[in-house]
Amino acid sequence: MQMRTRVGIIGAGPAGLLLSLLLLREGIDSIVLEIRSREEIEATIRAGVLEQGTVDLLNEMGLGTRMQREGALHHGIELRFDGEGHRINFTELTNGRAIMLYPQHEVLKDLIDARLKQDGRILFNVEDVQVSNISTDQPRIHFLHEGEQVELRCDFIAGCDGFHGVSRAAIPTTEHHIFTRSYPFGWLGILMQAPPSSEELIYAYSERGFALVSTRSPELQRLYIQCDPQDDIANWSDEMILAELQVRLATRDNWQLHTGPITQKSILAMRSFVIEPMRHGRLFLAGDAAHIVPPTGAKGLNLAVADVRHLARALARFYTQQQSDLLEAYSTTCLRRVWRTEHFSWWMTSMLHRFPDDDAFQQRLQRSQLDYTVRSRAAAASLAENYVGLPLDW
Ligand code: FAD
Ligand code: PHB
Repeated sequence: MQMRTRVGIIGAGPAGLLLSLLLLREGIDSIVLEIRSREEIEATIRAGVLEQGTVDLLNEMGLGTRMQREGALHHGIELRFDGEGHRINFTELTNGRAIMLYPQHEVLKDLIDARLKQDGRILFNVEDVQVSNISTDQPRIHFLHEGEQVELRCDFIAGCDGFHGVSRAAIPTTEHHIFTRSYPFGWLGILMQAPPSSEELIYAYSERGFALVSTRSPELQRLYIQCDPQDDIANWSDEMILAELQVRLATRDNWQLHTGPITQKSILAMRSFVIEPMRHGRLFLAGDAAHIVPPTGAKGLNLAVADVRHLARALARFYTQQQSDLLEAYSTTCLRRVWRTEHFSWWMTSMLHRFPDDDAFQQRLQRSQLDYTVRSRAAAASLAENYVGLPLDW
């Protein structure tokens, strides 16, 4: 079977879905292909923090109604070390900017719902996706859908299929550079049925490693602890996880973690990764397909949003004004923000985790960096500016 569209989008994550809606707004036809089912996508627990720019864009597109109702606006975070908490006041340090706690799978539900209501062109459960002809102006995507082999002809392909997708591999190795770093630790993340222990997120540095307190709803907490990335989750009983959280988060004034049943737990590895350029011929990469950041800065989803906003603008200019200048500039434009975000995420990660081979000197440097960040207005403002997110046009 043959199908035709202007932009073939691989992947129905935040990048692919938002791109399809941004294009629709410009009257540009696209089809989204996704290997997983709608149910699976809508149930996968990932990000929680939306930057101000992401929130503004979703609102401007009329996609923010449920987020406004069910999300929680946060005006700061806490950095905790040496048994004491220090608030970083975003509102004061960034001229009134803030972040929104609204889970990624809820964003995805809203985007899928909007897209299906408008024209329904998302194909779930596709298999064996492959791209071809990307160096020509008639690229193609081949896949299996409901047992039938399909060839999708398009003008452009957007590779929005995440870190483990197929798009990136279609770029010849002689045509790109990869920059990567892995970290000697991972995060053990849990969902716990208990009311929030804190009104704002807590990023804690302790002798025993990093811990993070986040929330999902008034009844559900999201918590993380630094762990060995090779560890098996089966080695961690609920009691061990809670004990570790309590030690790492302990304060001199006896702060208490609200506890309850742990309903989900898993371990994730951490890495930094960038491919340059983010484009080859008519294939454009966006989001995790092009770059990964460790989650300490809460940036991955937000970076995906910034990429597809540039891509949608570049495609709109191509179709409405027959100009390809923004498409030519796409990779360079995105990479400025990508590297700023890579640095911020690496910096937060390096400041807040214990490294297995660190010595007393290294630890003193980390303490000094934390101390400076909470005591200097300039340092705190830099963290705040990056955390709430630089303007989307930065
Ligand atoms: P993905 O969300 O990975 O979507 C890609 C989609 O493509 C998937 O649905 C996948 O099934 C599909 N796909 C894959 N291969 C194929 C194929 N061959 N054909 C068709 N479809 C395919 N980011 C933040 O901004 N803030 C946070 O607070 C935050 N916290 C995080 C916490 C955790 C524990 C984790 C793991 C991540 C976190 N992130 C956070 C990162 C964020 O979740 C990702 O950066 C984001 O999902 C990237 O979106 P994407 O659309 O680029 O890719
Ligand atoms: C989350 O709520 O899942 C979360 C929050 C902040 C981060 C990473 C993840 O830095």
